[in-house]
Formats: sequence, C-alpha cells, structure tokens
Amino acid sequence: MSPFTGTRRGGTAVAGASDTRADQARDAAVEAALGKLDLDAKARLLAGQDMWSLPELPEIGLASLVMSDGPIGVRGVRWTADDPSVALPSPTALAASWDPGLARRAGRLLAQEARRKGVHVLLAPTVNLHRSPLGGRHFEAYSEDPYLTGEIGTGYVLGVQDGGVGTTVKHFVANDAETDRFTVDNIVAPRPLRELYLAPFETIVANAHPWGIMAAYNQVNGSTMTEHRYLQNEVLRGEWGFDGYIVSDWLAARSTVGALLGGLDVAMPGPRTVYGEALAAAVRAGEAAESAVDEAVRNVLRLAARVGILDGAPAAVTEPPALIDGEALAREIARRSFVLVRNEVRDGHPALPIDPERTGTVALIGAAARDARVLGGGSAVVFPDHIVSPLDGLTAALPEGALTYSIGADPSGEVGPAEKGFELRAVCRAADGRVLGTASVPGGRVQWAGSDLPDGVTHDELHTIELTGSFTPRESGEHTFGTRGLGGFVLTVGGEVLFDGSEEPRAAGDPFEAFFGTPVERARAELVEGERVEVSLLHTVHKMPDAPIKAVALSLLHLGPRHDPDELIAEAVEAARTAGTAVVVVATTESVESEGFDRENLKLPGRQDDLVRAVAAVNPNTVVVVNTGSPVELPWREDVAAVLLSWFPGQEGGAALADVLLGAAEPGGRLPTTWPVALADVPVSATTPADGELHYTEGVFIGYRAWERAGASPAYPFGHGLGYTDWEYETIAATTSDARVRLRNAGVRTGREVVQIYLAPVDDTVDGAVDGAVDGAVERPARWLAGFASVEAGPGETVEVRIPLRRRAFEIWDEESGSWSFVPGAYEVQAGRSVADRRLSATVDARA
Ligand code: BGC
Repeated sequence: MSPFTGTRRGGTAVAGASDTRADQARDAAVEAALGKLDLDAKARLLAGQDMWSLPELPEIGLASLVMSDGPIGVRGVRWTADDPSVALPSPTALAASWDPGLARRAGRLLAQEARRKGVHVLLAPTVNLHRSPLGGRHFEAYSEDPYLTGEIGTGYVLGVQDGGVGTTVKHFVANDAETDRFTVDNIVAPRPLRELYLAPFETIVANAHPWGIMAAYNQVNGSTMTEHRYLQNEVLRGEWGFDGYIVSDWLAARSTVGALLGGLDVAMPGPRTVYGEALAAAVRAGEAAESAVDEAVRNVLRLAARVGILDGAPAAVTEPPALIDGEALAREIARRSFVLVRNEVRDGHPALPIDPERTGTVALIGAAARDARVLGGGSAVVFPDHIVSPLDGLTAALPEGALTYSIGADPSGEVGPAEKGFELRAVCRAADGRVLGTASVPGGRVQWAGSDLPDGVTHDELHTIELTGSFTPRESGEHTFGTRGLGGFVLTVGGEVLFDGSEEPRAAGDPFEAFFGTPVERARAELVEGERVEVSLLHTVHKMPDAPIKAVALSLLHLGPRHDPDELIAEAVEAARTAGTAVVVVATTESVESEGFDRENLKLPGRQDDLVRAVAAVNPNTVVVVNTGSPVELPWREDVAAVLLSWFPGQEGGAALADVLLGAAEPGGRLPTTWPVALADVPVSATTPADGELHYTEGVFIGYRAWERAGASPAYPFGHGLGYTDWEYETIAATTSDARVRLRNAGVRTGREVVQIYLAPVDDTVDGAVDGAVDGAVERPARWLAGFASVEAGPGETVEVRIPLRRRAFEIWDEESGSWSFVPGAYEVQAGRSVADRRLSATVDARA
C-alpha cells in the first residue's frame, strides 16, 4: 500500500456521519447554496479574508466564519488585553484531572466565551503527544499517553460543540516539537503513527465527531501535512468518516493544487493564500477539477451550517447550555489538576494540608508567587481580566498577620510586559506625521494583524507607532527597559533618549518572529518609588511587502531593579526561619516555555534551586509549588516536606492554591506525563532534526512505555498523585471487556481517587514469537493504560467501579496487512494508583 495514493474524498458519503433530520436539512441547504456559487466565489470562500475569518457570501446567506485560539480561553479576533477572556488552566493541567467530564464542562464554558465574542470555531484542542519533555508546546498538549489524550480531547470537543461552537482538533499530525516546525519531516513508522500519534485524533473523530481538524506545519514521511493525501483523504476522511473541514495551520498551506488534492479545505490566514484567485486560476488552467473545489466548499458550508451562519440551514445547537460561572470553573479545574507528588509525614502530621493553628505563620516565597505565571506562551495566550496570584489567594484565605512574602529568587532576570505601574496608549502616525488613530495598549503590547487595527489606521499608511504615557515605579533602583518586535525603536524615559536603534529579522522563515520573538534589553534608568516619569517608545514599522499577512507587533518591556541574588535568598531564608511553614513557588518563564522553540534543558531558570535548598535547610516544613506547564528537574525534591505541581493554573490559580494548601479541597491531579529526575535519564528527548528529518526511531516506546522498557526510574511515574486521604484497593474482577474494582477510603476525610487500569501481556506472543527476540515478533510495551475512572468516597466507605475495556486495547497495528490486529493470549488486568503503583491484578484470556 503506497502511503500517498488515493483521491480526495468529500464528507457526504462517509461512515459514521449521523443521519438525523437536521443533518439531512443541513445537507440539502449546503447543496442548494453550493449550486448558486460560481468558481470565483467558491475559491474565495476557501481562503482566509484576514487573520481569523472567511469572507461572507451574501448571495447565499452566508455570514463570515470567525475562528479563534484556543485552547484555554477564547482570545477573539484581537490580540490584546482589552478584549479579555476567561483563562482556564493549561491543557497539561486539564489532563491531570483525568476527568473527561470536567474537560466537557471546560469546553462548554469556552463555547459560552466564543459566542460572547462572535467566534464560531475554536482552534483547539491540541492533541499532539508529549514525545519529549523538551517540546516547547508540551504545556499545550495533554499527555504522553494516546488513550488519556483521546479521552480528555473527546470531553473537550463534546463540550465546545454542546455550545454550538466548532472545534479544530490540532495539529494533524506528529507536530510534537517546535524545532524547524515549518519544514521538519517527521519519519514515523506505520505502527507508532497509528498506535500513538493518530490514536487521539481517531478516538475524538469516533466519539466526539469534531467539526474541524487543523493540518500541521510539519511533514510526515515525506509529505507536508497540508498536502497529505494518504493521512487526510484516506485515513481521516476515508477510514474514520470525518465530515468536518480541514484548515491549514497558520501559513502552512504551500501549494494550490497540492493542498487541494491533499484534502485541505481552507488556507489560513489571508488575504494572500494559495487558494482564492490562485485556486480559481488552477481550475481554469485544467490543473485541478472543479469537483475537488466543490468538495472543499461543501465541507466549509457544512461547518457554517452547524454553527448557524448559513441561512436556511438548521444550526446544530439552537439552545446553548445553561450559563456557566467561568471564575468558579477555572478555580475548580485548577484544584482538580494540582498534583501532589510528595507529602512527607512527620510526627504523625503530613506537611499538607497546612494547619496554621498548629504550625503558625506561612512564609510565602518566590517571584511567581506575586507575579503569577498562569498560562504558557504563543498562540495559546489569552488575556484574562484579572489574575489571582498565590500571594492574593493566600492573603485572602489566611488571617491577618499570618503571612509574609519575599521574592527569594527572580527566575529570569529578564524584561517582561510593561504592566504594573505603566499607563500607556498607542499613537499611530503616517509618514508625514499625521495622526491616523490611537489605541489602548494594556501591558505595553501591540499585536495587530489583518483588519484588527485602531479606527482610522491602515497598514499601508501606518508608519510609526508611539507607545506613550507614564510609569510609576513600585520600587526605587535601576529599572531596565526593553523591546520585542522588528523595526526601529527610540526609547525615551523621563525626557531622556535612552535607546535609538533597530531590530532586524533573525529566524529565517518564521513569520511569527515579531509576535513571539526574543525580548531584547535596551536601556537602564535610576528611578524612585512612587515618582511618576514620562515614557515613550517610538517604533518605526518594519514593512514586509512579501509577507502573506499584514501585521505589526511590538512591545515595551520592563524589569524592576535587579537585586543581589544572594541577598534575595538571604531575605527569604530569614522569613522562612521563623515561619511555621515555608511555601516556595518556583516557575519557568515565557522565554523557557512557549510556542516556536523547544526547551534546551529541564532546569528551573535563575537561582531557584539554590533558593529551595537554602529555605529547606532552615525550615523542615518547606512546601514547594512547581508552577510550570511541563516537567522540570527538582534536584532538592527529597529534602523538602511536600512538592505540589500547579502547572500553569489559569486566572484563578492563586485562589485554588490557597484552597488546596489550607485543605479546603484536596489536590485532585494525577500525572499525565512521566516526571524525570534529570533530562539525561529521559529515554526519548531529542527534538532537533538532522538534514531536515526527525526520525521517531523509538517506535511505540515513548513516555512510560519507554521508561519501563529501559528499566529506568523517573522522579514520579505516570499516573502518580496523592490526595489527602488513603485508599485500599480490595478486589478486582476482570473480563476482556471490563474491570470491576472495589476500593475503600481508608483515611479520615472524603476523597477522590483515579483508578487506573493497565493491560500487561503475560506472555507476549505474536505470531508464535516472544518479546521481539525472535524473528517476526512484534515488541509490545510491558503494559499500557487501558481505562480509568474517578471515584469519590467518605472516610471508611467502600466503592465499586466498573471500567470498560476497548477491543482496541488488545490490538496492534499490523504493518504488513495495514490493519488492526487483535493479539490473543493471556493479559494481566492491573488496577493501581500509577503505572508503578499497581495494587491488584486479574488474568484474562483474550481471544479474537
Ligand atoms: C499555531 C496554531 C494556532 C495558529 C493561529 C499557529 O502558529 O501553531 O496552534 O492555532 O497559529 O494562532
């Protein structure tokens, strides 16, 4: 079977598409509308008209379809803080809840946000896998396990679409790292492709019927994904019966005919794309059949019908679900996502929850405890209207006088958004100095693309943008100012020009450099606390006539006075010495975890490791909160009383943290990904292609599958996480279709447990061969996650849970026949608290 044969398939004659009356009415409306469009209109509809939308076609009663990122909020069509959105915890956090029902509620809230902002399609969820912990967008994907990813993704998609808003499951497929993401060719054998990377997409298509999929930037096995006939036409549409639209990742579509025949329906963003006029011309030149264009248009019109913007077609949802309180849900998800990986018991008392009556005051330490890091960088950024930091959360929850705060260590020492103390606005001018318009610029950030420009301003006329206003320092000392963006910059503080120069493009080929590019320090100034100074950053716009989208992006950046790192640590140590409990919040920064690049190591930036060690040395009740989206090395983890992973916890993170630290709620999360001791131990970590190719040579062995095969021990295994009660696993009974597990809450408070089922082949026999040692054998992991469920019980209570097992759990992808193959034999069905902490098992004999 050649991977690149096959023809484009439309979404009408597909398996799995439900055949309700409404579907029929929608199909009829779509056909009628399609029949009225000429080639030019059809080609236009398949091309973005700007950064986020498709053109309206009034002649068929079609409104403009609006898309927006995703995945933790709804940014809307403007990239600024003056269009706020609820910010939920990061996708790793949502997956750590191991609760598809909670993911569904998150989805419903996001649909509510989307409707509020006039957005029809959310560019989410991200269901690529945690192949390497270095992956820059690790925080934005769910897990290293395809089954957990598929289940959480299913809940999320169902929830968003319950609200009548479309989803775009992304990035199809194998976009598991960022290095050279526009060009890398990921070489993946059929078995890992099917069993790992395609699996979550397949599950979500089967169980949640998503209305969209996003084609990734990268290539897979020699074909760029936007043109991948085999994966898009044959597998996604043909085998799985996907009937939604396929949209390119932003700027991923490279060829008109290649993309059309490869199954791509929409090329984003616009207005300059490979579709539109170029597509109509290709059809006229006989390079592509108009019927192929029709199929793509049908897919877009079907989506438009579902979201209710095609006249005469019934929307999929006419009554959205009841209103959801976004703040409350953000706080609940955060609590349910925190993973307590260590909680030492001393003198009969666990370190957490903190009992201030017993232990006295709390010394809160860490830059991120005050300036909270609640989300990861890149296209996942949304702007919440407020953020509850750990300092805010604990201040509100503890009695007055019970809390002290010290910085301890600044994780980055880098310039960041010009937020606290700044009051700025943007003045836009033409080349002749005429003021074209003004805008507010919260955080000192300008990110305007396409038609998202202040009133009166056009890209053609726009010549300079001046960020002007004032800054009132909250501390005396030497303040650092910086910029992000390409073009000319003149920085003036207190009437003095501190910098006059320009920034040229660096990363060849990444059109988002100005948006996500590196922050650069420009100048320093001695300023006094409370004394207001005038600030101006005059930017001469860097014009890129060949760029496919017209965009301007620049930021004024700032960093408060740098302190002697030893002094900061010493201050924190003094605070910790006299406190009952020390809570140290450690974190990564936006220049460590973000889109567009991979991490270089897993170390906490700055002097944070030294800080934790110094604090732990003087306070035995040291609790460390790890505020990162993905794994970091915690070299001091055995020396502290408790370690709580809070991920990027969303806007209510600090309130949720207070709930959990003080015991109003237990931390509900379990690790969705293995947490290594050190990068050097990680079995699969490389993300850098050689000669343009990245070979997934490890086959099906990623995550815990790889750790177990290597016989290596991580810091914390997949599935691990402690609550505030204890569980005794009492009995298990299993068949090949389910496992029934009885367990008892053996602790003193009500709790929730995630019961995990792993399937372990007893005698791994395939085609008469064992364990890969004999010719013809297929090597399988020692075990894999086959099911899970959460239970809740009061102290002393017993609960029983039935966890279904899918036939697929017993199957492998047979590369020779190109099909799924059931592997008969004996399996242990193991129930436990993590992949390494298995409490019960039963043997089943699986027969096809
Ligand atoms: C990202 C996508 C995102 C798109 C639009 C791309 O750079 O890879 O995940 O949806 O931009 O912001």
